[in-house]
Amino acid sequence: MFSAFLIDAAYFVAAFLFLYGLKRMASPVTARSGIIVAGGGMLVAVVAAFLYGFDVSPRAEAHLGTNLFLLILALGLGTGWAWFSGKRVAMTDMPQMVALYNGMGGGAAAAIAATELLSGNALAHGVVVTVLAILGGLIGAVALSGSLIAWAKLDGRMNKTWRLAKHQYVNAALLGGALFIGAIISVMAIAGATETPVFLILVFFAVALALGVLLTTPIGGADMPVVISLYNAFTGLAVAFEGFVLQNPAMIIAGTVVGSAGTLLTLMMAKAMNRQVSNIIFSDFGGEDDGADGEIQGTMKSADASDAAIAMYYASKVIIVPGYGLAVAQAQHKLYEFVKLLQKQGVEVSFAIHPVAGRMPGHMNVLLAEAGVPYDIIFDLEDINEDFAQADVAIVLGANDVVNPAARTRKSSPIYGMPILNVDQARQAYVVKRGQGKGYSGVENELFFLDNTSMVYGDAQKVMVQMIEAVKSLG
Ligand code: TAP
Repeated sequence: MFSAFLIDAAYFVAAFLFLYGLKRMASPVTARSGIIVAGGGMLVAVVAAFLYGFDVSPRAEAHLGTNLFLLILALGLGTGWAWFSGKRVAMTDMPQMVALYNGMGGGAAAAIAATELLSGNALAHGVVVTVLAILGGLIGAVALSGSLIAWAKLDGRMNKTWRLAKHQYVNAALLGGALFIGAIISVMAIAGATETPVFLILVFFAVALALGVLLTTPIGGADMPVVISLYNAFTGLAVAFEGFVLQNPAMIIAGTVVGSAGTLLTLMMAKAMNRQVSNIIFSDFGGEDDGADGEIQGTMKSADASDAAIAMYYASKVIIVPGYGLAVAQAQHKLYEFVKLLQKQGVEVSFAIHPVAGRMPGHMNVLLAEAGVPYDIIFDLEDINEDFAQADVAIVLGANDVVNPAARTRKSSPIYGMPILNVDQARQAYVVKRGQGKGYSGVENELFFLDNTSMVYGDAQKVMVQMIEAVKSLG
């Protein structure tokens, strides 16, 4: 038998590893080891939670025979599926995977709430534990259904934003309804009830799940990363609440860490897009441009990859803006090969990273690190945006929304207000993309129509090969 002391010590070690791992994730240089450290913490926590069932909980001991089989089955299925999907997932599909895993965390918290309320265990521990179980269940269920809708949108299975007439009133009614049922259950706990009626639990979770769906369907593509991060924070909070219900310190610590890290990330991403979180959740943002600001003026011009390459070869200052298309084309290695040729020629080359470029926070940093691009030529938006005005050439590789000047000028645009990289201020801008496809938010890009912009059509990988050949042929 394992003593309760040993298990508590294991939780303490796990908590330390979570926090230390998180700290190491703050820099790209140490991030990989940070993930391994935090993963080790999770392993310690899972083993400790497993042993907890043998030692501390009399309830678990009573059902040990059946529970043990279910525990091992759940651990086997979860580990196997996570290993398989983690190995297979493409970098560009990572946000979908995060959304799914996140939803499952919320669902697990909701399931704990349901069993603890149904069995009467939460009620037996008094009204505070009952309220925590209810709140955790509500937040977890919202995170589950909301994350599933976010996954469907990110995966391209559900494209349109969708809203009911008086949508916000319906949401308010659902939230009010769930809280009302929660209040009834809490009063039952005060009155000394030993269990919660099944139909109350069913209605409560149906309402909470519907709320998650309806909160997410009106939110458009460009805001989805913020929403996923918000649901991530919700899941953390729900897990922490259920940790109190089960008196499991690992759940409380891990849930609190996820909840606070998710909240910070949500706020930082919203700030990067110059939005308020409440405005993202409760406004019409992320829909379509209603055209109130009129048609975009100008025409798109195209240029050859070799012409663009030669212009950069003879420039003194070049700024490169990577985006989602660079990741799709996996052109980062060819790009860095090209950059080294420019640097050899004495060209000053920098990379400008928008905080929501690509499909996840830090996506472009990871991509460039993969190709070995040194960190000292990679700059965040606020550190480089003023330099575009002095750049001879700015080249955009598979980015779109993050360089759209409509965000500055076009009030009718769904991305209005988001800070963008000032590519339009460079003397000459080139945009590499395959065709006239729109960006993630689905809006037209004014940059492509400006006099100083030329489009270089083609897959980013192929274009980079042509650019390298063009520069090599010069000398
Ligand atoms: P996007 O706006 O998605 O534009 C990417 C562009 O790449 C497209 O216009 C596409 O045009 C082009 N492209 C695709 N495949 C290509 C290929 N093989 N070769 C060359 N070009 C290719 O990208 P962005 O500027 O990086 O903006 C990010 C957007 O994603 C923002 O709206 C952001 O809110 C959203 N988002 C961000 C995150 C995070 S946290 N980073 C997560 C989810 C969503 P063609 O089809 O014409 O080639």
